[in-house]
Amino acid sequence: MLALLADLRERARSALRPDAWEYYEAGAGDEVTAGEAEAAWRDFRLRPRVLRDVSRVDLRTRALGADLASPFAVAPMAFHALAHPDGECATVRGAGDAGCLTVVSTRASRPLEDVAAAAPGPWWFQAYVMRDRGLTEALVQRAAAAGAGAVVLTVDTPHVGRKQRVGGVRIGIPDDEYLVNLARHLVPGAVGREAAEQDPSLTPDVIGRLAEVGGLPVVVKGVLRGDEALRCVQAGAAGVVVSTHGGRQLDRALPSAHALADVVAAVGDRVPVLVDGGVRSGTDALVALALGATAVLVGRPVLWALAAGGAVAVTEVLEELAADLRHVLALAGATSPADLDPAVVVPRRVDR
Ligand SMILES: Cc1cc2nc3c(=O)[nH]c(=O)nc-3n(C[C@H](O)[C@H](O)[C@H](O)COP(=O)(O)O)c2cc1C
Repeated sequence: MLALLADLRERARSALRPDAWEYYEAGAGDEVTAGEAEAAWRDFRLRPRVLRDVSRVDLRTRALGADLASPFAVAPMAFHALAHPDGECATVRGAGDAGCLTVVSTRASRPLEDVAAAAPGPWWFQAYVMRDRGLTEALVQRAAAAGAGAVVLTVDTPHVGRKQRVGGVRIGIPDDEYLVNLARHLVPGAVGREAAEQDPSLTPDVIGRLAEVGGLPVVVKGVLRGDEALRCVQAGAAGVVVSTHGGRQLDRALPSAHALADVVAAVGDRVPVLVDGGVRSGTDALVALALGATAVLVGRPVLWALAAGGAVAVTEVLEELAADLRHVLALAGATSPADLDPAVVVPRRVDR
């Protein structure tokens, strides 16, 4: 892990309430998947090219119409107000100042319109389809009206994963934060928390439905198989995110690093493939990009930065990751993410 990230992690641990720290760190079940995510990127070895002019390395990236300074983006994560009083408003400001995209969660703890107003750059909206589907559709429409560039539909959460560290699925969040974006759309008499629970009955037609409701491209997040990615694309997905949800859903799911190549082989020529889970350095991102990812989402390190130093620290961590990527791209003989090819990476030999 980069020294800056390790330092932010320790500062966040001191700054956060102990239960919030455990909630951020937690994985589901025995935390096998959560524990393997970072190391899985190190299961690849690099085959650098030489004698290329790498005096200029260009990280600029385009993803579904968004022009970004680098391929790093902020993964959708719930309740940023646990980390900072300005919550998601500070995150989007920090990420935007680094030229990076933020995916804003359905479980954001600040009103979407305030988040949109604070965002200096592009942002996407992450949708959970809730038991009250009208609630989800109202949110998607609000996000589109507020300027979201895409909807990221999370599909690995028919139920929220059980996390032993928090003795349930999440820590207690007061209603005014939990329902900050939802309360106004509840039908009279509805119990907000029940209406807002994840709907476990989703089928692929929801992709087209959300695209129609919001008028935005729908990127499906939480896919680990090529055949499943193809099913999503055939149902209208404009992109997919290879993800284990930070190891917070199905424990013992394959790490994203090991799932990526299969998904790229299945749909990479048709739609952008994004990836997240355990990305902690430019080299991790280089592996992902060489395997065919268009962009890489970063989760917990952004929350550590937010807790440790607010928007400024979020900018700093994303810029540090970009600087690290620029450096290792040059060492690998590439002038841009697109200049990488799969021959740059090989699985590590295990017979050492
Ligand atoms: C505290 C926390 C909350 C999260 N909340 C959401 C969420 O609301 N929606 C979602 O799609 N993913 C959520 N995720 C998963 C992230 O989007 C992402 O897949 C994961 O954190 C990436 O792994 P990393 O933290 O190792 O970088 C959450 C992750 C964490 C750590």
